[in-house]
Parts: sequence; structure tokens; C-alpha cells
Amino acid sequence: MSQQKCIVIFALVCCFAILVALIFSAVDIMGEDEDGLSEKNCQNNCRVALVENIPEGINYSDSAPSHLSLFQGWMNLLNMAEKSVDIVSSHWDLHHSHPSACQGQHLFEKLLELVSRNIEIKLVSDILPTESKVLNDLKTKGAEVLYMNMTAYNEGRLQSSFWIVDKQHVYIGSASLDWRSLGQMKELGVIVYNCSCLVLDLQRIFALYSSLKYKNKVPPSWSKRLYGVYDTQNKLTLQLNETKSEVFVSNSPKLFCPKDRVLDIEAIYNVIDDAKQFVYIAVMDYLPIVFDTNAKRYWPYLDGKIREALVLRNIKVRLLISFSKDTDPLTFNFVSSLKAICTEVPSCSLKVKFFDLEEENACFLKEQKNTSLPKLNRNKYMVTDGAAYIGNFDWVGNDFTQNAGAGLVINQADVGNNTSIVKQLKAVFERDWYSHYAKSLQPTKIPNCLNYKLNKAVANKTAMN
Ligand SMILES: *[C@@H]1O[C@H](CO)[C@@H](O)[C@H](O)[C@H]1NC(C)=O
Ligand SMILES: *[C@@H]1O[C@H](CO)[C@@H](O)[C@H](O)[C@H]1NC(C)=O
Ligand SMILES: *[C@@H]1O[C@H](CO)[C@@H](O)[C@H](O)[C@H]1NC(C)=O
Ligand SMILES: *[C@@H]1O[C@H](CO)[C@@H](O)[C@H](O)[C@H]1NC(C)=O
Ligand SMILES: *[C@@H]1O[C@H](CO)[C@@H](O)[C@H](O)[C@H]1NC(C)=O
Ligand SMILES: *[C@@H]1O[C@H](CO)[C@@H](O)[C@H](O)[C@H]1NC(C)=O
Ligand SMILES: *[C@@H]1O[C@H](CO)[C@@H](O)[C@H](O)[C@H]1NC(C)=O
Repeated sequence: MSQQKCIVIFALVCCFAILVALIFSAVDIMGEDEDGLSEKNCQNNCRVALVENIPEGINYSDSAPSHLSLFQGWMNLLNMAEKSVDIVSSHWDLHHSHPSACQGQHLFEKLLELVSRNIEIKLVSDILPTESKVLNDLKTKGAEVLYMNMTAYNEGRLQSSFWIVDKQHVYIGSASLDWRSLGQMKELGVIVYNCSCLVLDLQRIFALYSSLKYKNKVPPSWSKRLYGVYDTQNKLTLQLNETKSEVFVSNSPKLFCPKDRVLDIEAIYNVIDDAKQFVYIAVMDYLPIVFDTNAKRYWPYLDGKIREALVLRNIKVRLLISFSKDTDPLTFNFVSSLKAICTEVPSCSLKVKFFDLEEENACFLKEQKNTSLPKLNRNKYMVTDGAAYIGNFDWVGNDFTQNAGAGLVINQADVGNNTSIVKQLKAVFERDWYSHYAKSLQPTKIPNCLNYKLNKAVANKTAMN
């Protein structure tokens, strides 16, 4: 008899425990974070625009495509804000005496104004407010600063750069809250308006970052509220302007990827695997190496993927890398090695060019006897015949293995001859590729103004062919 009682009590305790577990997991799923937003009621009829910062002095031909300026795009977003502005940025440096810094100053003043109007401003950063005047001033006025101790998590850095405004509008791209991003640097990003379905997922990356604020350890398991909503198997279907599109967001490093969250490297694989004709890649640095504290390791993943696309699938690949005095000389070795894979394979097509604003700068300065700051192309995107990936990383091993960053993949398979964001991005790539700033050969490290003029003439000629 007492044995039976024991069994009954045991069974009851088990039932109770299971019930409690179920209730807690349900609470965890329906977190208060999401403002009642769900996959069923979110807005998926969105508008999209490319934004670019083109530094002063850079000129393309008159017929070259041009897009909304980054500054105007960001100001539009801030002007729309009624409730909240969430910003993740690698840099927080908007003040400088250089004339090109005035847009950074305007942006800062606009943010201060929003704080004073009680719009909720959350800023994710891997530097402490005491280390940045911008963060400190905004915090003093009432913005919330969420500090992520990136050195505590595998010695990485926060390279993520995205915004979420009113849980409806999104920016993602290469530019950070740095006066140079609005001045001397060439940057590219994308703004998506009225798109709470996309926010639903990107917000979870933001929430993951904010869950780490002032913590020195990543939790052993992530809350279900931070799991990815969409992935490569289950993409989000959207209208972007008039074009039907499928999108998903990616995140890195692996340490920050809960269940169902696509890694940036997987997102890039997905886009390259889906390409049928071409893959155009624009990055500041291309270096398949991981630099550890006291060693270098070959990091073959993206390099290998390009090789596979070239020789096994006959995909045409174009790689546009920035050149500056800081470009690692090994870049040229890896590029030569990539080119060698096409030897004696007739249908294999790889071309690499270096986008060099410095040589022109140097020559310009010599003529003007002027002091100016270096200009650099910091674009970080890839475009194919059917998709675009816009991210926060250069194609350097450390970015993907250690640093935090996010990306957006947009698939638009059957656009016909309509303009779309993917076609616009392709046109931007081609504008840069055929411009006189893009050079096929290894640029000289010492600026030679005579060479510069000759190269320019040659570049113009080859662009015609
Ligand atoms: C760029 O501008 C300069 C001066 O305004 C002009 O001399 C040069 O031809 C322009 N280049 C292009 C490609 O338009
Ligand atoms: C960040 O983490 C490192 C390594 O764990 C630690 O030494 C440092 O004190 C932390 N910084 C802050 C501000 O918490
Ligand atoms: C977003 O939607 C609102 C309401 O439908 C509309 O008034 C606004 O113009 C839209 N914004 C953009 C950028 O299309
Ligand atoms: C440098 O050039 C800029 C325009 O490019 C000009 O406004 C400025 O006055 C020049 N500075 C000097 C010291 O010549
Ligand atoms: C092209 O755009 C028009 C209107 O802008 C739209 O009706 C049509 O469906 C689009 N075609 C494709 C293939 O997307
Ligand atoms: C492009 O689209 C227009 C209608 O939007 C159509 O009349 C035209 O034939 C199309 N051109 C090609 C080459 O498909
Ligand atoms: C989408 O529409 C907006 C206006 O609502 C426009 O500014 C933008 O350039 C369009 N984007 C594309 C890719 O056509």
C-alpha cells in the first residue's frame, strides 16, 4: 500500500515538474521584448534604398549610378524616429576639427535632440562611455549605453554596424558612428523601411548583445528568445519596393549564434552556391589568415569557396580589394595563388582589381601642397546574379572567427529587367570596377605621379574594352 502511495506521489511530482518546465519555456518564447510583434502580424511590404558615402574629390562619369548619401539616409531614419533608436557600432567618434567632420557633428546633435525628446536611445558598444566623448555625452543626457566586453570573449572586437528605428526601419552596412564614415571614407550600406518582419529577427541579435552588457562571460545556453527566426532553409519572404525577395540575417562569431542563427560564413557560402553566372566581391581587405597572439594560421574557408566556384562550377568571379599603405603584402600572394587555379581551364574566369584612392590623394596633395587625410574604400558586400550580401566584415580570417558582425542576405531570383536592389548593387560594383581608381596590377607602394597619370590613361582604355 505505502509503495503504491509512493509511486502516486512520485508521478505527481514528475507531472508538476514537467508543467513548471513547460510554463517557463513558454514564458521564455513569448518574451516581453517583442512588443507583440510576431511572424503573423509583422509588416513585410517594405521599401529599400542603397546608401553610400562617397568622399569629396572622388568623381565618376556623369552617367555613373549614384544613391542616397549615407548622411541623408541616417538623418532620414532619425527624423522618422518616434519611439526608439537602437544602434550597434564599432566606433563612436563623431567630433573632429577636419572640415569633413561637420556631418558627424550634425548627426551627434540630432541624436542629442532625440534623447531630449524622450525617444529611447540604446547604444551597443565595445568601448566604455568613459573612452568616448560621444557615448559619454549621450549617456549623460539619458541614452542607454550597453557595453560589451569583447576582449573577454575570445579576444574579439565589435565590428557590427546596424540600426533599428521604431522597431520598423533598419540600416546595415560598412559605416560606423565615426566622422570618417561620413567624410573621408567610401562606405556602403542599405536601409530598409517599414519592415518589422526583418526587425523581428535582427532585433534578436540586438537583444543578444544587450543581454551581454557588462558581462565577462557568454552564458552556457541562450534564451529561446534569442534564437534565429529565419535561416537559409526558412527565408523571410518580403516585397522590397516592387520586387518579391527572400531575406535572412546572419551573425558572427559562432560564440554568439544561438540555435537557428546563420553564421556569416554560412550566409556567404549560401549566396555563392546559389550563383549561376557571377560573383562580385567588394571588400577592403582580402586575407585568408587568422592572426593569433603569437602565430598565423591559414584560414581556407572563403578562399576555398572561391576556388570551388571558379574551377568546378565555372562561375565568373571579380574581386575588388582596397589598396592602401597598410595593405598586407601577403594579399598579393593569395591573389596570385587564386589566379593560378584558372591556369589552362578555358572557362575559368577570375579578375582581381585594387581600388586605390591613396595614390591619387598623394599626387593631388603634392600638387596642392595640402594636408589631407587618407581616403579608403571600406565597402563590404558581395553581389551575384540572384542575390546580395551586405555585411560588416572584410574577408580576413580574424573578422569571422573572433569579431562580432552581422550581415543581410537578399535573394531576388526572377527580377526580369526591372530595377531592384540587387541590380543596383551590381551597377555600383561595375561603376567602381571600371573606374580609374580600380587597377589590375599591384599598385606601387611609393606613389609615383607620372605612373598615376599613365595608369589612369590605361585604365580608361581597358574600361572601354
Ligand atoms: C574629375 O574631376 C576633375 C576636376 O573636376 C576632372 O579634371 C576630371 O576629368 C574628372 N574625372 C572624371 C573621370 O570625370
Ligand atoms: C573585460 O574583460 C577582461 C578580460 O576578462 C577584463 O580583464 C576586464 O577587466 C574587463 N573589462 C571591464 C570593463 O569589465
Ligand atoms: C511607411 O509606411 C507608412 C504608413 O503606411 C507610410 O506613411 C510611409 O510613407 C512609409 N515609409 C516609406 C519610407 O515608404
Ligand atoms: C586644402 O585643400 C582644401 C580643398 O581641397 C582647401 O579648402 C584648403 O584651404 C587647403 N588648405 C591649404 C592649407 O592649402
Ligand atoms: C516589374 O515592375 C512592375 C511594376 O513596377 C511589376 O508590376 C512587375 O511585376 C515587375 N516584374 C517583375 C518580373 O518583377
Ligand atoms: C523590359 O520590361 C518592359 C516592361 O516593363 C518590356 O516591355 C520589355 O520588353 C522588357 N525588355 C526585355 C529585354 O525583357
Ligand atoms: C524604393 O523606393 C524608394 C522610395 O520609396 C526609393 O527611394 C528607392 O530608391 C527604391 N529602391 C529601389 C531599389 O528601387
